Amino acid sequence: MRYFFLIYALVIVFVISTFGFRGDKFKKPPIRIFPDMDEQDYVKAQKPNNFYANGMSGQKPVTGTIPQGHSTDLSVESELKGYGNKETYLHTGKFNDKNFGKGFPTELELENAENVTALLTRGQEVFGYKCSVCHGLSGNGKGAAKANGFIPDISNLRTSELVEGALYDVITNGRGNMGQMGSDLSLYDRWAAVAYVKGLQASAKADYNNPKIKEIFDAANK
Ligand code: HEC
Repeated sequence: MRYFFLIYALVIVFVISTFGFRGDKFKKPPIRIFPDMDEQDYVKAQKPNNFYANGMSGQKPVTGTIPQGHSTDLSVESELKGYGNKETYLHTGKFNDKNFGKGFPTELELENAENVTALLTRGQEVFGYKCSVCHGLSGNGKGAAKANGFIPDISNLRTSELVEGALYDVITNGRGNMGQMGSDLSLYDRWAAVAYVKGLQASAKADYNNPKIKEIFDAANK
């Protein structure tokens, strides 16, 4: 037993003198029994590199290719098909980075009636496949998800008082039990959904006794 303690003490002294205390700092590289992937021959973007003929680490994209998520097409049409990467109202629904804006982005050119029709038509499609399952086709918050008891409280969009930019933001970033849709819906589709929600709100307030409105409603519900 005496030897056991002696050997035990010696082992402790040996281990500590070889490996040091926890947290000790060493000048020499550490002993690594399982080096895992601690050290790799990876490329440092700004360092010279003989591997490539031009001697640089960071390489330009291969001619004729476009990195995913980028486009060389700077037109508004192409921007509208994208998913948002700028700080403008069109991309964020906000002015000055914090205030939600009222109205639609100028890029949609809604002074042109054809564009309004196209936006609302697309909005109806988007609302139908993306929103109605929860909010209901009329936007009253009583869609299938509520009827089946999946989500108890779903906003009634017909009475929502959010301005256009804020509506856009809820779609883009989600809220509560509503997931974000910024990565599924293009900028155009999101604004189209906003326009359609505004349309639903207007229709909720429309006076059915007005003959002109009655005519439009009856034509739509034939
Ligand atoms: C998975 C179900 C679900 C889907 C799909 C969904 N929503 Fe929602 N939405 C909700 C819920 C739940 C809330 C309430 C969130 C909260 O405030 O906690 C909500 C809130 C909102 C609000 C905020 C209303 C207010 O006045 O506060 C807007 C606007 C909205 N949704 C629009 C949309 C649009 C447009 C779509 C389709 C692009 C959509 N939602 C798709 C569940 C959904």
